[in-house]
Amino acid sequence: MDKQEIIKALSAEDFSPYYEEADRLCRLHKGNIIDMRAIIEFSNVCARGCTYCGLNVNCNVERYQMSEEEIKETALKAIAAGYKTIVLQSGEVPNTNVLTLGRVSALIKAKGAAITISCGELSREELVYLKEQGADRYLLKHETADEELYRRLHPDGTLTNRLNTLRDIKALGYETGSGFMVGLPGQTVETLAEDLLLLKEIGCDMAGIGPFIASPNTPLAGEKNGDPEMTKRAVAIARILLPKANLPVTTSLGVLSDAERRKAFSCGANVIMKKVTPDEYKDKYKIYPADIPPINIEKDRADIIKMLAEIGKKGV
Ligand code: 5AD
Repeated sequence: MDKQEIIKALSAEDFSPYYEEADRLCRLHKGNIIDMRAIIEFSNVCARGCTYCGLNVNCNVERYQMSEEEIKETALKAIAAGYKTIVLQSGEVPNTNVLTLGRVSALIKAKGAAITISCGELSREELVYLKEQGADRYLLKHETADEELYRRLHPDGTLTNRLNTLRDIKALGYETGSGFMVGLPGQTVETLAEDLLLLKEIGCDMAGIGPFIASPNTPLAGEKNGDPEMTKRAVAIARILLPKANLPVTTSLGVLSDAERRKAFSCGANVIMKKVTPDEYKDKYKIYPADIPPINIEKDRADIIKMLAEIGKKGV
């Protein structure tokens, strides 16, 4: 699909042919399997001022940083519960402690699970080091493909730098994940089409597409939330453009509507991520407002498998 076709599809009165095609491609390449990933949000310390994010440097939130032992312990619990991928996510800081991340990655690798890192724009050297330590995948959403909008939302970054880091990630042999938000203030359907085409240009192996949720205490507090329907449409087009990619149903979609989250699994999505962050930290990692029930790694995983079974999918 080219830009005009994508714009036309996203705005179509009846989108069902695209949903059907996305579902067909998803079944063809992924069967009825949904990959479940455990995410450890190991630090909410962040030096960047991204205007949509509830953890940005100007937000008055209590900061935490899990110790290396805590991260390892949490990862081992998640692996013991059956998770085959551990996602290590944090805010973005200069001089990220890659030595800790490297040791944690080596441990996870030794236990036979895959590692996804999501800690912002690391240097090429840092990315090389983590790859050597066993990291398999890197998640760095481009957030928006509109340069001007990117600049407004990210006072300390540029789209060019973001894309250069994504290109490094890809060139180093990581399974590469990007993605964007749907419904950002100032975003148009043209931007969304560019976002989708950019995923293809980057050569994404994974793409997280989620609705924007207005976060209190940020410059975008009070703005309108993203539309779940438009989010599902964007996921479906991503499946059509990148038939073999891993496309998660984002947590933010589930926050807006549990029913929409379920539906996204028949619109092309084949991955779900679940927080395994220890209870004492989970409420401090609030990118956007959400009620996070107490975390019980084994039970939560079993609950997801059950929910997936209800919609004819097998969580692994
Ligand atoms: N609403 C929805 N998603 C958000 N993210 C950050 N802030 C928000 C928000 N207010 C997403 C970004 C980021 C990921 C960790 O969370 O896409 O990459």
